Amino acid sequence: MKQIKIAPSMLSADFARFGEEVAKTAESGADLLHLDVMDGNFVNNISFGPKFIEEARPFTKATFDTHLMILNPWKYIDRFVKAGSDIVTVHYEACKERLKETLKAIKSLGAKCGAVINPDAPVSVLSSVIEECDMVLLMSVFPGFGGQAFIPEVLPKIKEAAELIAATGKEIDLEVDGGINLENAGAVKAAGANVLVAGSTVFKEKDRAAIIKKLREI
Ligand code: DX5
Ligand code: ZN
Repeated sequence: MKQIKIAPSMLSADFARFGEEVAKTAESGADLLHLDVMDGNFVNNISFGPKFIEEARPFTKATFDTHLMILNPWKYIDRFVKAGSDIVTVHYEACKERLKETLKAIKSLGAKCGAVINPDAPVSVLSSVIEECDMVLLMSVFPGFGGQAFIPEVLPKIKEAAELIAATGKEIDLEVDGGINLENAGAVKAAGANVLVAGSTVFKEKDRAAIIKKLREI
C-alpha cells in the first residue's frame, strides 16, 4: 500500500497572507502544498505565477506540488522549477505530442514531473509517457475553479490509472484533484489514488490539522 498523502490546494488560501498560509498549512500536517497556476487561456481563471511561488518558498520546507494549467507549459517550466517547485505537473491537453519531452525537461531541471488529464480524457493517453512520470494527476473536475462538485465517473479511471502504474513496477504517485471531501475521499482511495488534493474542504474548516488528518485516515 502506498502512503496516503494530503495536498491542500492553496487556491483557497488568503492570497494577501500567502506566506503565512503555506507555513500554517504545512504545520497542520499537509504532505504536499498544491499550487494551482492558471493563465486565463488554458482555463477561464487567473491565479499566480512563478514570482508568487518564489516568495512563498522561504516560509516552509514542505513539498511544493505545482499544477500548471497554462498553454505552452514548456516555455515556463524552468521558471517554476527555479521558483522552488518540487513537483511540476503539466496537462496532456496543453502539450499533446510534446508531453513526453516536456516531462523529460522538468526532470532535467531537477524537479519531479507529472502528467495531468481532464475528466474527459481517457487514461490510455498516458500509456506512452507513464515511464517518465513521478506522478499522474487525474482531474475530478474541469480545471479552473475551486469548490466544484466531484465527477464520480472519474472513479473507474482512477482504478485504470492505478493498474497502468502498477504495470510499470515503479513508485509513481496517483493524485486526484477536484471536489474531494469527507464523503468521497474513501472511494477515491479505494479506487487506488494515494495523493488527494483538497481546497475548499480544507480551507472552510477552522481546524486545518483536524480536517487533513480526517481526509488522510478516512
Ligand atoms: C481546479 C484546481 C484544483 C482546485 C481544488 O482547477 O486544479 O486544485 O483548486 O479545489 P477543490 O478541492 O475546492 O475542488
Ligand atoms: Zn489543482
